[in-house]
Amino acid sequence: MPKVISISNQKGGVGKTTTAVNLSACIAQNGIRVLLIDADPQANATTGMGIEARDDGNTVYELLISDKPITECIRKTQIENLDIVTSNINLVAAELELVSLSNRERILRDKIYRLNGFDFADKKYEYVFIDCPPSLGLITVNALNAANAVLIPVQCEYYALEGLSQLLNTIKMVKNSFNPALSIEGYLLTMFDSRLRLANQVEAELRKFFGEKVYTTKVARNVKIGEAPSFGKPITIYDPLCTGAHNYSELALEFIERNKEKK
Ligand SMILES: Nc1ncnc2c1ncn2[C@@H]1O[C@H](COP(=O)(O)OP(=O)(O)OP(=O)(O)O)[C@@H](O)[C@H]1O
Ligand SMILES: [Mg+2]
Repeated sequence: MPKVISISNQKGGVGKTTTAVNLSACIAQNGIRVLLIDADPQANATTGMGIEARDDGNTVYELLISDKPITECIRKTQIENLDIVTSNINLVAAELELVSLSNRERILRDKIYRLNGFDFADKKYEYVFIDCPPSLGLITVNALNAANAVLIPVQCEYYALEGLSQLLNTIKMVKNSFNPALSIEGYLLTMFDSRLRLANQVEAELRKFFGEKVYTTKVARNVKIGEAPSFGKPITIYDPLCTGAHNYSELALEFIERNKEKK
């Protein structure tokens, strides 16, 4: 059975999509089968993988608001072992349309788990990553409800910790209401600049509060990471030798290693 990991933080621009694209690519490059679900109307994970964010009738929107099975929404990416469910701007409407549905908080979960076991069990994914939008609305609740664990990217700046308490409250709410087994996969320091005192202070605070849940690997601020999405390529394809590619490859190894220990 795959492990489902939701990449969430309601704060915008902290590196959720960058992490979703590059971590799933790096894990797939280790020969492990991964599915990436783009659950953000901005569709940055879709375009970041070099796929046009168009309405082809098989996007995450149809997955959420019609009875279409997930198997019909999965498509291949340029990376072997990595498949994707794409998004596009139509998903904006889903946030409203979901409200009137009786199973509104658990549609994504039901789609992934479809009756007996996983709907896409034949694909043998080991990990499913969900890239969440920067809000705590119904789409994020669906992602948290569908997940075994949450990976939280944190940008080391002044309000980073304050924003986290809101996210942790939502996670607690989802745990109490729908998904008691939901756990924290890890906290990831993104866009890290070791020359900044504030970044080092926030890192120290995070490690004090969350201990080993904070990944040892940090992702440094790196211009190549900012460039790669406009070429529609994960960083390890765009510039395999840059610091960003090195950081995400290291993160993938740490992620894989930690999950071996958990098993
Ligand atoms: N390590 C990094 N170094 C430099 N730029 C980065 C890095 N990580 C992310 N960025 C850039 O920062 C911006 C925000 O990153 P990203 O889109 O991953 O954040 P997000 O949390 O998904 O944003 P949103 O909340 O809007 O979905 C993007 O332009 C991205 O290319
Ligand atoms: Mg994003």
